Amino acid sequence: MPAHAKILGVSANDLPPARSTSPAGDAPSAGQQPTTDALRDSAFLKACRREPVPHTPVWFMRQAGRSLPEYLKVREGIPMLESCMRPDLVTEITLQPVRRHKVDAAIYFSDIVVPLKAIGIDLDIKPGVGPVVAEPIRRREDLARLRDLTPEDVSYVTEAIGMLTGELGATPLIGFAGAPFTLASYLVEGGPSRNHEHTKALMYGDPQLWADLLDRLAEITAAFLKVQIEAGASAVQLFDSWVGALSPADYRRSVMPASTKVFAAVEEYGVPRIHFGVGTGELLGAMGEAGADVVGVDWRVPLDEAARRVGPGKALQGNLDPAVLFSTREAVEAKTREVLDAARGLEGHVFNLGHGVLPTTDPDALTRLVEYVHTSTAR
Ligand code: CP3
Repeated sequence: MPAHAKILGVSANDLPPARSTSPAGDAPSAGQQPTTDALRDSAFLKACRREPVPHTPVWFMRQAGRSLPEYLKVREGIPMLESCMRPDLVTEITLQPVRRHKVDAAIYFSDIVVPLKAIGIDLDIKPGVGPVVAEPIRRREDLARLRDLTPEDVSYVTEAIGMLTGELGATPLIGFAGAPFTLASYLVEGGPSRNHEHTKALMYGDPQLWADLLDRLAEITAAFLKVQIEAGASAVQLFDSWVGALSPADYRRSVMPASTKVFAAVEEYGVPRIHFGVGTGELLGAMGEAGADVVGVDWRVPLDEAARRVGPGKALQGNLDPAVLFSTREAVEAKTREVLDAARGLEGHVFNLGHGVLPTTDPDALTRLVEYVHTSTAR
């Protein structure tokens, strides 16, 4: 019986059929970079490398989570952060959307604030709200609270990824982290924010403290991504979800150096690096320049236009509006065709939503979408 079924006490009969894993002896073990041919030749990794693909690969940001009844079931009574620290739960939750939707990649189940919690920042993830930080970071003396992250701080990540890569076989696992700006926004504001006013006050009012804060976060983020890659993640995504709040000039001056540092720190591993933010139409070029191999695009910019802004040498990821999934099947297919048409001339395309799956999305609509993209792009 697969480890994830055993550990959670869920009978294998309760679960949809497990995906085939790589043949015995071929399966990567914990702490090893999985390098099977089938994994390396997966549609997702090929698209990231801008190589020809058998079909356009699909995965969804927030594919694991509240849209899935099986997620709600295993999370019952377990707080979000606690579930991120339990390898058995992380493994099960990460696999759920792969089993159900047949997506082309898994994304490691965690949250962007997990590495901050791991170095001792007092924070919690409040249901329906998001990350809340007990004492915001706004003064120079607060920086001392942001100590280096070591692999021992997140040993559960290494353990969970070891379990996951064994289960996933040829399906790639995407590791991820929050980008320095988005993490700084939660730390400086103390929680979610619409206007990022405290964050911008610090960025404009004390540029040196701001630069030092982002540099600290870049170090922590890089260390967290390295742990995931060394444990077996085949790609990484840097989420700069809220950076669309900045002008291009401010982005280049005050954020890009830190994000560039993160990407440079993991370049030697040779795994695809994806860079994503929301409302970043004006920043796409700079976000590619920061060192991404794949640039994630939200639904506001068509992919052909995004490719002009990003320039050659990068794959793109996106970009169906997640709200479209609440419409009719015909409308979903028509809007999906628009995305695929705009993607036709791209060097590489990974299909995704323009932001995360909304919690009340019908999971069957997601399953149908995966199948639709696969069949309509089969070559
Ligand atoms: O499937 C996946 O994509 C992997 C899981 C994942 C989560 N958070 C799980 C989660 C990922 C990639 C994230 C990243 C994340 N977390 C981002 C960047 C992506 C984005 O959406 O832009 C951000 C900004 C956060 C911060 C955060 N954590 C928010 C805004 C929320 C939602 C608050 C809410 O309850 O509506 C969280 C909590 C969170 N992270 C949940 C999940 C599944 C919901 C918690 C729950 O189910 O109880």
